[in-house]
Amino acid sequence: MRVRNTMLMAVCLLLLATSSALAAAAQTVAATPPMGWNSWNFFAGKVTDKDIRDTADLLVSTGMRDAGYVYVNIDDTWEGERDASGRIQSNSKFPDMKALADYVHSKGLKLGIYSSPGAKTCARFEASLGHEEQDAQTYADWGIDYLKYDLCSYRTVMQQQAPDDPAAQNKLMRQAYEKMHQAIVKTRRPMVYSLCQYGWDSVWEWGPSVGANLWRTTGDISANFDRMSLIGRSQAGLAKFAAPGHWNDPDMLEVGNGKLTHDENLTHMTLWAMLAAPLIAGNNLTQMTPEIGAILMNKEAIAIDQDALGRQGDRLYAEGPVEIWLKPLKDGRKAMAIFNFGESTAEMRGIGLHLKEAGFSGQVSANDVWAAKDLGRIGDDSKFTIPRHGVVLLVLTK
Ligand code: GAL
Repeated sequence: MRVRNTMLMAVCLLLLATSSALAAAAQTVAATPPMGWNSWNFFAGKVTDKDIRDTADLLVSTGMRDAGYVYVNIDDTWEGERDASGRIQSNSKFPDMKALADYVHSKGLKLGIYSSPGAKTCARFEASLGHEEQDAQTYADWGIDYLKYDLCSYRTVMQQQAPDDPAAQNKLMRQAYEKMHQAIVKTRRPMVYSLCQYGWDSVWEWGPSVGANLWRTTGDISANFDRMSLIGRSQAGLAKFAAPGHWNDPDMLEVGNGKLTHDENLTHMTLWAMLAAPLIAGNNLTQMTPEIGAILMNKEAIAIDQDALGRQGDRLYAEGPVEIWLKPLKDGRKAMAIFNFGESTAEMRGIGLHLKEAGFSGQVSANDVWAAKDLGRIGDDSKFTIPRHGVVLLVLTK
């Protein structure tokens, strides 16, 4: 009898330990902004199992995994039909999702997937409406670690169920996101939960209440300076909504895509780091140049993004094309980015660094991140020459 009681107690303790470990794991996903790679920006609807495996290999061999890029996220167009029991299948581009997850995990990486609360995804593939729990369980069975949940055709449901009633539509949308959150929780597998509804209805105000670890704040990015910088600059004022566990997401990186110049890629990486944005690379790693690798893997830029304080940066000062953004870091240091969004070189004539507003009383020690240079002590009147569409990124210490 005593032996049986002791065994029972041991089993109970084990169960308790496992469930609290799971709860803790769920809470700690996205303690800092998630980092990884996503298929959409480069491969879009053409992505295959092979592209994901090649990407996983390259995340390791280029050093990106060790720099922090651990999530390999399959975006839209992986979905097949449902079987007789309603279980979602992957399509012929992804012959065996479980085997793919095992492969990705064997590389020390994590696998992400994509769906929609609507009947169809944005690319018109099968989505989760009416199958939320089943889909979450299928993802968990495959070994999925991250879900991007994209509103897409759920808009039709909202319009049909609450025609011309924005408040009721908003309620339906929140409920749909909450439903999938609960379905994920029920699987007991920690998954990063990424909302994609283009920043509607001030999602930053209610994202955490539906379990989101990140939420898109805008429509889609594209690989050109105007779109990227418009999105980045429109994040001003959102800093107070980001915190460890849940982040504003100005969309995935286009660094290395399109015709972005070197300075434009630096501006992109700097803006996202200053914004404590998720760093989800979107380039084709099989063609990544050393120059692009160096930008994506710059240790200090990543450290600014991932800083444990978890404070998003904000605009401190703007004068014409020059903008100064500030991000507080742990230990009282501050990252300062001086952007030139203009069409010609900026010399900062008449523009100070605004160190006082940045919280410093006098001179500061400065490190220039992209120049990899210790600048020693600098004052408010220090001038930088900033190329067209370029940036100077400093880390300042008292
Ligand atoms: C869009 C989304 C993109 C991508 C695409 C896939 O709605 O914003 O990031 O996921 O759908 O169809």
